[in-house]
Amino acid sequence: MIFRHAEPGEHLKYDIREARPSDARGIISCMQGVMDERVFLVGEYYMWTEKGEQDRIRNPDDLTLVCQYGDRIVGVLTLQRGYYRKNRHTAQLGIAVGAGHRHNGVGTRMISYAIDWSRSRGIRKVNLEVFSTNKNAIEAYRKLGFMVEGVRKNQFIIEGMYVDDILMSLDLNQ
Ligand SMILES: CC(C)(COP(=O)(O)OP(=O)(O)OC[C@H]1O[C@@H](n2cnc3c(N)ncnc32)[C@H](O)[C@@H]1OP(=O)(O)O)[C@@H](O)C(=O)NCCC(=O)NCCS
Repeated sequence: MIFRHAEPGEHLKYDIREARPSDARGIISCMQGVMDERVFLVGEYYMWTEKGEQDRIRNPDDLTLVCQYGDRIVGVLTLQRGYYRKNRHTAQLGIAVGAGHRHNGVGTRMISYAIDWSRSRGIRKVNLEVFSTNKNAIEAYRKLGFMVEGVRKNQFIIEGMYVDDILMSLDLNQ
């Protein structure tokens, strides 16, 4: 457990921790819920099976964090390290906090943990991609030190409108 948050008078708390294989089903459900909103993530269905998810969680090169609220997983962060010698100094970050649990500091705490984890393993650069329409996410990443390093114009069509793919990264060399 790395963070506990409770609103005044609220008995449920947010527990943020590294995922266990037994979290696989809850992770899939959380990710699918955010995908079903259709406006934040590229995927329309979560690509990992329960078994695949468990294998991914066991991979020491990757980090999976979950945010548990009561007995439900309401946030998931994945960090996938580059597989080859040429890109092992990088990692790709993805995050999804479920509707109703956003803007409570969960995302910031999960990403901060992932940054510390990356540093401790010699990762020099953390990358992510975000829709240009996702202003809250872009602002959250900026506050954590991520900078825009590229834009892929009109990379997506969401609800009938072209949307740019914003490439952001955090340089951990300093
Ligand atoms: C983007 C996301 C990861 C941020 O996590 P979060 O727990 O909601 O964010 P935090 O509470 O840590 O807030 C960090 C900052 O983000 C911005 N922000 C987040 N949610 C916001 C909201 N609903 N309204 C306004 N600003 C918001 C604010 O700048 C905030 O800083 P502040 O607390 O000083 O105002 C989360 O909202 C989320 O998963 N959204 C849906 C899925 C998604 O967009 N994933 C990322 C795809 S690239």
